[in-house]
Amino acid sequence: MGWKATVLTLFPEMFPGPLGVSLAGQARAKGAWSLDVQDIRTHGIGKHRAVDDTPAGGGPGMVMRADVAAAAVDAARRENDHRPAIYLSPRGKPLDQNRVRRLSEGSGVVLVCGRFEGLDQRVIDARDLEEVSVGDFVLAGGEISAMALIEACVRLLPGVLGNEESPEDESFAHGLLEYPQYTRPAIFEGRPIPDVLSSGHHGEIARWRREQAEILTKERRPDLWALYERSRG
Ligand SMILES: C[S@@+](CC[C@H](N)C(=O)[O-])C[C@H]1O[C@@H](n2cnc3c(N)ncnc32)[C@H](O)[C@@H]1O
Repeated sequence: MGWKATVLTLFPEMFPGPLGVSLAGQARAKGAWSLDVQDIRTHGIGKHRAVDDTPAGGGPGMVMRADVAAAAVDAARRENDHRPAIYLSPRGKPLDQNRVRRLSEGSGVVLVCGRFEGLDQRVIDARDLEEVSVGDFVLAGGEISAMALIEACVRLLPGVLGNEESPEDESFAHGLLEYPQYTRPAIFEGRPIPDVLSSGHHGEIARWRREQAEILTKERRPDLWALYERSRG
């Protein structure tokens, strides 16, 4: 049994979308992971399969019904299914590479994609859904967030990245953003590749890269920089 992502959505036609091409698509074709997309509307109420209703207490928009969402979650999770059930939500804990790594080490995820004003709080509580955000901005639905989470996990599954693309070396692996990358041509619009990278001196190159990673992290992500400094004691 490989890593499995179950996605509950009102727009199943959005999948696999970008997950069907390139690295994730090839890994799925090889059987490294599988995707199960479930249409929440099949659990809708009545002739029109209603999935939403007006917010209790008034206000704009519509809210996804707790009974409909709960039925979708229950249908997706079999007995002995220990995969975490995650509701993609701007109110959630921000997704980071540590969480992605832990999720990729498990057996998969069940992802609930919201629409409208989101899910009725009672289904979040009753099904113990973990709220996860992909950033401090509001999307129209959870599908693109679900795709981002899945792609981030899938690329860490054993055998998915080639040896030459080790995740050990990239942004966040050591609490720093990645150093700048260069390739041919040697000079682009008058801008040369930094000399050290052509020196063949591995120690110097490693030192330069570390310095650059530190400079970038300090400039762009004071939050990460503070954690990094703390971890160095
Ligand atoms: C328009 S949003 C609802 C926003 C909600 N009313 C609020 O203010 O927190 C609809 C759905 O998009 C998804 N979504 C929007 N922004 C997201 C984010 N930053 N991270 C994860 N999911 C998001 C969630 O599934 C959410 O239920």
